[in-house]
Formats: sequence, structure tokens, C-alpha cells
Amino acid sequence: MSLFDRLGQKLLFTFDPETAHGMSIAALRCGLPVGARAVRDSRLKVSLCGLDFPNPLGMAAGYDKNAEVPDALLGLGFGFAEVGTVTPLPQAGNPKPRIFRLTADEAVINRLGFNNEGHAAAEKRLAARKRRSGIVGVNIGANKDSTDRVGDYERGVVRFAAYASYLTVNISSPNTPGLRNMQAREQLGELLSRVMAARATAAAQPPVFLKIAPDLVEAELEDIAAEVAEKRIDGVIVSNTTISRPPLRSGDAARETGGLSGKPLFERSTTVLAKMRKLLGPGIAIVGVGGVDSAETALEKIRAGADLVQLYTSMIYAGPALPGRIVAGMARFAEMARLKSIRELRDSHLDLWASKPL
Ligand SMILES: Cc1cc2nc3c(=O)[nH]c(=O)nc-3n(C[C@H](O)[C@H](O)[C@H](O)COP(=O)(O)O)c2cc1C
Repeated sequence: MSLFDRLGQKLLFTFDPETAHGMSIAALRCGLPVGARAVRDSRLKVSLCGLDFPNPLGMAAGYDKNAEVPDALLGLGFGFAEVGTVTPLPQAGNPKPRIFRLTADEAVINRLGFNNEGHAAAEKRLAARKRRSGIVGVNIGANKDSTDRVGDYERGVVRFAAYASYLTVNISSPNTPGLRNMQAREQLGELLSRVMAARATAAAQPPVFLKIAPDLVEAELEDIAAEVAEKRIDGVIVSNTTISRPPLRSGDAARETGGLSGKPLFERSTTVLAKMRKLLGPGIAIVGVGGVDSAETALEKIRAGADLVQLYTSMIYAGPALPGRIVAGMARFAEMARLKSIRELRDSHLDLWASKPL
């Protein structure tokens, strides 16, 4: 980490996590020279669902909930950025404090509850960048008090199809009561049918990804895979935060309610990812997310079956130079291993990961 970045991270850690997050967004919005120069390497390019990703590392949803800084994130070296989760109406989310650092574990627990400025605000910002290049996905959700949650997703598809490189249907946040029940087969079938029907009516038809929880058992994964295949969903993002609590070193913060992310999520989310790859077969896109904090962990997600990877929590600990460092590390690996394309690694550890118990 450069001295500038190290001082920046130290300063941010003197503030509570949510204030620090707001400051980091403000820094990106102002164009402060944070982060490293992005490496471009043709071996890292990934073509997927009609999109050409310059590299396989993306910013996960939840950092830029209101689509304020997608282009600044791409400037940090990410190959793509996912904004949101956005809900039709603005909502405040849960009472504060609602983000907790588990520093000894390089993890975070959050129970934000989809705090965001709503569709209209995000649409305005995305419309203003419409002619810019760069892959920006839009992650859509439902309002907590909505009487028609499926309708909220349909509205998200219709609203953002014209601006999104891809759309993510997020039904895996643990912080909106009942939301994850939409992963159950019957509800999921209805949701995905209506989402795909909504997309078919739109002038632009971006790929649709489904983002799932890591807290699912094998039978639930089988049901999800069957619905994804039947409804011709383009890809699956594995995974959101976990409500489980693997052994943690951090004291009080580890007992907070909410979704756990970061290093302790790597094992579980990578196991679920590999099981999903086995169920879906080679042709459906998978984005691996959960505990990626280095080139090695990013590459391991690809070996376990991912086409692309994302991160969030590790950037809280390592700062904005992290994506550039990871991408450079992946390029070095491709050179050393004499790969023509990073894709050659995909599935090389699939059996090892898929055979782990949940
Ligand atoms: C503070 C915070 C807010 C998040 N908000 C969202 C969100 O709005 N939508 C979403 O799909 N995922 C959200 N996530 C989950 C991340 O996108 C990601 O799936 C998860 O954190 C695992 O990746 P990581 O270990 O690299 O953080 C959030 C995560 C964190 C830490």
C-alpha cells in the first residue's frame, strides 16, 4: 500500500464504518487520486453473455448503492462495477449503527436493510453516463414495505434495462425480512418468469443474473439451478453475505445480527459456487464473490468454477489500491503459468470444492 493510501485507510478507521464509507464515496466523487493505475492485459479479458470484460474482477453490490461513482470504481482497476441494490422507492434502512468492523477477522457484519435513494435518483445518474464505456451492472431489489415485491423487481428491470450492462436480481440480502424466501422454488419460478417477461418488453435486453445466499442446503441449490435453467437466466452470483457465524476472533462485534462478509465467508461461498457450477453445467455464467482479498483468492474462485469474481469487504481493509494490485497479480500469474487466457483455469479445482460439505 502506498503511504498516501495507508494514511487514508488509517484516517478512515478513526470514523465509524458508515461515516468512513460516505467519505470514501465522496473522495471518489471528487476524483481524488486514490488507488493504482489499472493494468491492461489481454490474457485477463473475459467474454461473457455478449459483454467484453477487460478483466474478471468487479466491485460487488452495496458499495455504490446509489450509482454515484461507477466510473471512478472502474478507474481503480475493476473490470466492472455493480451499483445498487436499488429499490423503487427511497428507503432509510435499519437504525444505526448497522455496519460493524470485525478487524481481527478482516470481516464485516452489516444489517443496512437496502438503504438507498430509490430508482429515480439512480436512473438520473446512470442516464448522465449512458454514452460512457465500461461495464456497469445494476442490482435491483424490493422495498421492505412493498405489497408487491415481485412487481418491484419488474419495475427495476423496466427502469434500468436501458442503462445496465447487466441486471442482478438480488433476493439474498438477509436484512429485509422474508426476502430470502423468494429463493424457494415456487416463489422463485414466479419471480424469474415475471422478470424475464419484463425484460422481453424492454427495448434493450441486458443479461439477467440472480444473486443467491450462501446459507442454502444442497436441495435448495438444486431447485435454484433448475429454475435458472428453465427460465433461461443468464447467470448466478454466488454469494451474498452469510447469517452463519464460523469461528471468529472479534469479540462483541461478532455477536451483532446481520450478514457476515470478508475472509471468513471465502470457504462457504466458494463451496456453494462450485456446487452451483456442477448443477448448472459449463454454459451458464457464474460470478464468484465472498472473501476475495488477493490475486490468489480471486484465481481460486475461477478454479472453483467462476467466470468472474467480485469483492467488497477486503477493500475496506486494504484500501482503493487493492483492485489494481489484484489485477496486476492475476496478470503476473497468467504470464508465469504461460496461460493464453485466464479462463483456462476455470473448473480446474471444481471437484475439490464441490465435494466439500455445506
Ligand atoms: C456494507 C455492505 C453492504 C452490502 N450491500 C449489498 C447490497 O445492497 N446488495 C447486494 O446484493 N449485496 C450487498 N452486499 C454484499 C456484497 O455485495 C457481497 O456479496 C458480500 O459482501 C461478499 O463479498 P465480500 O466478502 O467481498 O464482501 C453488501 C456487503 C456489505 C459489506
